[in-house]
Amino acid sequence: MQRTRSRAGISRFIRSRGYVSSDSWCSVFGGGALPHFFSINQPGYKSSDQKPDFVVSLHKHFIYIIILGMCDSMKIAILGGTGSIGEGLALRWAVKHEVFVGSRKLEKAQASTDKYRKILEESGDTCTITGCVNPDAVDRADVVVLSVPYEHVSSTIETIKPYLRDQIIISIVVPMKKNGHFLYAPPESGCAAMEIQGLLPEGVKLVSAFHNVSAKKLADINNKLDMDVFICGDNEEANNVVSDLVKDIPGLNPMIAGPLEVSCMVESITPLLVNLAKFTKKKHLGIKSV
Ligand SMILES: NC(=O)c1ccc[n+]([C@@H]2O[C@H](COP(=O)([O-])OP(=O)(O)OC[C@H]3O[C@@H](n4cnc5c(N)ncnc54)[C@H](OP(=O)(O)O)[C@@H]3O)[C@@H](O)[C@H]2O)c1
Repeated sequence: MQRTRSRAGISRFIRSRGYVSSDSWCSVFGGGALPHFFSINQPGYKSSDQKPDFVVSLHKHFIYIIILGMCDSMKIAILGGTGSIGEGLALRWAVKHEVFVGSRKLEKAQASTDKYRKILEESGDTCTITGCVNPDAVDRADVVVLSVPYEHVSSTIETIKPYLRDQIIISIVVPMKKNGHFLYAPPESGCAAMEIQGLLPEGVKLVSAFHNVSAKKLADINNKLDMDVFICGDNEEANNVVSDLVKDIPGLNPMIAGPLEVSCMVESITPLLVNLAKFTKKKHLGIKSV
């Protein structure tokens, strides 16, 4: 799957390297700098047309083209992106990727999107983020994150089926039950990922990831993360795309854990982490392999 380039990603990359301010860069981007660059190669072009700042301008064009090649961005739909972990994923990815926050209700998606945009803008980040109903979000995406509670996965997939083509689906779903403490409650197929596989049409590639990441830590963009993310899936290319998306969140380290059925073990770690947090009073635990 190809990564495409977004303006937010380019702008952030440039600012992070301190090349130019985001405003001046946007003016280069939106103000016709590229057309100007190409115009010098046209037959009617005369050297006397040069502006005094031509050399500086040309430099900018070359830097821009080099940077274009370095900034890859994807279109990511987060279904249930209005919820706890959806918020963190949206905030962390929207600075580089084009994020579609999905919901059953457009107004709720838009309210969450406004909130996320404000958080990012207040911290000086630019972002590309849009609120949509779940099917619209899927229709516009290369990668779709299933971020709804296990009980509602099946009904959510029914609503998006007509819009599934060859997207990569990421399941972060953990079936759990509470009985004073938390227990893993897998379906007959062994785990959420294996069940979801059976619900998806052919051609869609399912990857399982992010189960052991705390929503709270992810959503606090000032919090420095330092944990592993286990990735399970049967399609190597899709696993690699998800691995790159994990890397795009600073402090998260992707680890391929095996084919999709390994997700049954990875999912079962989450209730353990929640119990550990409760009984040891250490909040929002994650996994780090040493
Ligand atoms: N929270 C964590 O720390 C964490 C960590 C790892 C994995 N996970 C997994 O990530 C998934 C989301 O967890 P979460 O804590 O973010 O859940 P959540 O906040 O309780 O819910 C997420 C979203 O699911 C949607 N939803 C609720 N009821 C629904 C229904 N009946 N039908 C369709 N959609 C419905 C809602 O979106 P709309 O109302 O906008 O449609 C809601 O905002 C779960 O499968 C969980 O196991 C969570």
